[in-house]
Amino acid sequence: MIIRADTSLYGVFGNPISHSLSPLMLNRAFKETGVNSIYLAFGVDDINAAISGVRTLGIKGVSITIPHKTTVLEFLDKIDETALKIGAVNTVVNRKGILTGYNTDSSGAMRALKEKTALKGSDVVIIGAGGAARAIGYGIVAEGGRITILNRTIAKGERLAKDLGANFKPLAEIKNLDGRILINTTSVGMTPRVDAMPIKSDLIEKEILVMDIVYNPLKTRLLKTAEDAGCRIIDGVSMFVYQGAFQFELWTGKKAPVEAMKKTVLAAL
Ligand code: ATR
Repeated sequence: MIIRADTSLYGVFGNPISHSLSPLMLNRAFKETGVNSIYLAFGVDDINAAISGVRTLGIKGVSITIPHKTTVLEFLDKIDETALKIGAVNTVVNRKGILTGYNTDSSGAMRALKEKTALKGSDVVIIGAGGAARAIGYGIVAEGGRITILNRTIAKGERLAKDLGANFKPLAEIKNLDGRILINTTSVGMTPRVDAMPIKSDLIEKEILVMDIVYNPLKTRLLKTAEDAGCRIIDGVSMFVYQGAFQFELWTGKKAPVEAMKKTVLAAL
C-alpha cells in the first residue's frame, strides 16, 4: 500500500498499549480489502485530549481500550444505544466530525458464542463482574439468555447481577454450575500465571460449552480442562477477532476479512 495525502488514519487509544495486537489485525484487514488506511497504536493518558486530537486531525476512527472504555463516553457526540446501556465504548466512528461511540466487545462475543450455540432460553454462567462481564452479559440478555454471575467480590457481583436482572453467587461458594454455558471474563489464567483457573476443575462436566476471553495463552488451563472433560470450547481469539471485525465494518462499511484477521492474530501469538 502506498501512503498518500488521502490515506485515512485509524488507531487505538489505551495504556499500556505496546502489546496490542489490534494494529497487526486491522492493518491486515485494510490491506486485504484494498482500503487505503493505516492503523496505529497510541499510548494515551489523557483521553479528553486524545479525542480532541481525533477531531483536530480528522482521524476516521479509533478503538478504545483499558483504561478508557468508560471515561471516553463524556467526550463523544453520540453513543449507540447498546454501548450506552453497557456504559462502555470500545469503538469511535468519526462521521464528518460527529463522533459516535459503539461497543463491539458485546457483539463480538455474541458472534463467537452464536457460532457454537443458541442463546435464547439458555442458562449462562459468567465468572467476573468487570467491564467485559458487563458487555457480554448485556449481549446475552438481549439474545434471551438467563445469567448467573459468579464473582469474588460480592458487592460488585451483586451490582452487575441487579443491572442485568441476573442471579448472583459468590465465586468461592459454588458447588455446581447452574448452566450449560460457562464464560470466564476475568484475567485468571493469563500469562504469566498460566496455571491459575477461575473455578475448580471438578465443576466442569461434559456437555458444557466453555468460553474464555483470555487469549494469551490461546488455550488457558480452563479451556484445557474443559476439553479434557469432553466439553466444546471457544478461545479468546474468536471474540477478539470479531470485535475487531465489527470495528472494521463500522469504519469502512465493507465486510471484514475475518479469516485473514484471525490468521494474523494467531501467527502473532
Ligand atoms: P475488565 O473491565 O477487563 O473486565 P475489571 O473491571 O478489573 O476488568 O474486572 C475484572 C474481573 O475479574 C472482576 O470481576 C474481578 O473480581 P473482583 O470483582 O473480585 O475484583 C475478577 N478477577 C480478577 N482477578 C481475579 C482473581 N484472581 N480471582 C477471581 N476473580 C478475579
